[in-house]
Amino acid sequence: MENVGIGMSEGDPGTKDRFVIGYLTIAVLLTVLTMSWLGWEAYRTIDATKIAAVKAARIEELHGIIVHLDEVLTMSARMAATTGHGKWEDRYRQFEPKLRQAIEEAQSIAPEAMSKEAAAVTEDANNVLVKLEYDAFRHVRQRRLDEARRVLFNNEYEDHKRIYAEGMIHFATGLTSLADEYFDNASKRVTVTLSMILIAIVALLAGWIVVLRNTSQWKAAIVEKAAALVELNANLDQKVQERTNRLQRVNEDLAIEIEARRRIEEQDRQHQLELAHATRLTIVGEMASGLSHELHQPLTSVMNYTNGCLRRLRNGDEGQEEIISAMEKAVKEAKRASDIMWRMRRFTRLGDVNVEPVDINEVVKEAMVLADPDYRKHDIRVHVELEEGLPSVMADRIQMEQVILNLLRNALEAVQKIDPDNPEVIVATALIDAGHVALTVLDRGCCLNEDEIDRAFYPFYTTKKDGMGLGLTISRSIIESFGGELTAKVVRHEGTLFQICLPLTASA
Ligand SMILES: Nc1ncnc2c1ncn2[C@@H]1O[C@H](COP(=O)(O)OP(=O)(O)OP(=O)(O)O)[C@@H](O)[C@H]1O
Ligand SMILES: [Mg+2]
Repeated sequence: MENVGIGMSEGDPGTKDRFVIGYLTIAVLLTVLTMSWLGWEAYRTIDATKIAAVKAARIEELHGIIVHLDEVLTMSARMAATTGHGKWEDRYRQFEPKLRQAIEEAQSIAPEAMSKEAAAVTEDANNVLVKLEYDAFRHVRQRRLDEARRVLFNNEYEDHKRIYAEGMIHFATGLTSLADEYFDNASKRVTVTLSMILIAIVALLAGWIVVLRNTSQWKAAIVEKAAALVELNANLDQKVQERTNRLQRVNEDLAIEIEARRRIEEQDRQHQLELAHATRLTIVGEMASGLSHELHQPLTSVMNYTNGCLRRLRNGDEGQEEIISAMEKAVKEAKRASDIMWRMRRFTRLGDVNVEPVDINEVVKEAMVLADPDYRKHDIRVHVELEEGLPSVMADRIQMEQVILNLLRNALEAVQKIDPDNPEVIVATALIDAGHVALTVLDRGCCLNEDEIDRAFYPFYTTKKDGMGLGLTISRSIIESFGGELTAKVVRHEGTLFQICLPLTASA
């Protein structure tokens, strides 16, 4: 069949469409996910950088504040000792908590700016310095300025001042390097994030190039299909017309072929009929001597009875009663002869096949009328054993009679051959199961072996001088045309048994 479907030759289009749509959906989803993740990562990096920058700036600021306040406190204490003015102590007390606060804040922002040991040493030095400065303030308040200057301008104060200064430098360096570290980390993070964004953008671009290339191919294919569809639609009418014409031609060819076949079958049927008819004529021909004897007898009797009557009438004999009786006998004999003639004519007529429900026992009896004379002539007995009340079977009466006569004729010829002491043929009918009736013909003639039984049904197989070898072939095809079977078997020490098995009429 010609392929008129769009895209049918390129695989399943629905699958490809679904594939491309799935492909696009995944690409869009991946893009959205990647962009969301990149946005989130950028936001976090900016936030972290901001915090790092704020922290670093505050650390720098605190560092300045601490150095400045430290100097302010030292200077205030020394100014108090030098000038004896109380305002310097006020100033000292004003800035001292601020310094402590600044140091605490710096330690909380960057606890790791200074090691614990260094912090302890610095703290100790600071405590000593504070204690010395407090002592100096006490001397100033008591107006012992020399004592106060001695406390603040001696080696102990200088040493602790140096230890404290070193500690603070260490702390300040730590703070600075921590601020640098914060900046470093932040810039690293920015670099990593930017690199990731770059890689993701490149990957997305590459992915989208592939997706777009695929979808553009897909779009091109759809456009092509649409164009093909338009073209197909344009040609569809023409194609439908062409196909209709072609189908019409095929139909016409088919009708011609069916008619030719019907004629051949009719001829076949006619030939079968003619062949069956010809073999019926042959059977009658074979039985002719027996039948002529059968006709000869009643006709001779008719002649004798009518001659007797004529003689009596010519002689003027009274005895009317006897003449009537003789004439009645003559009529009876003439009827017998006419009956035989009627049956022969019916049997040899070339008529159409008429399959109908028939009583098989009746058909056997009809056949026996024609076969009996032959049997009697050859002095062979026929035992007819018919089962009473058999259901009817579907058959053509004449053809069925022909089959029975064929079998009876074969049996007669077989029995004749061996010249037995007690020659006999048994014809029987019986119901063999719920759906079949069997008719058997058993003869005690020359037995066939298994091989010969098979060959007996071959066309033109005969062992007889004048035989045609068609009797059994035709009989089997007749029985099969009624839906039945004709088989043969050797019955040990009994003879040959032919069996016809016919299905019962459906309604029976
Ligand atoms: N009852 C039987 N006993 C033994 N042999 C038989 C019997 N019936 C048939 N045969 C064998 O089968 C052969 C074929 O039989 P079939 O009736 O087909 O042909 P035919 O009798 O030879 O010739 P015709 O065509 O005139 O009947 C016979 O020649 C015979 O050898
Ligand atoms: Mg025969």
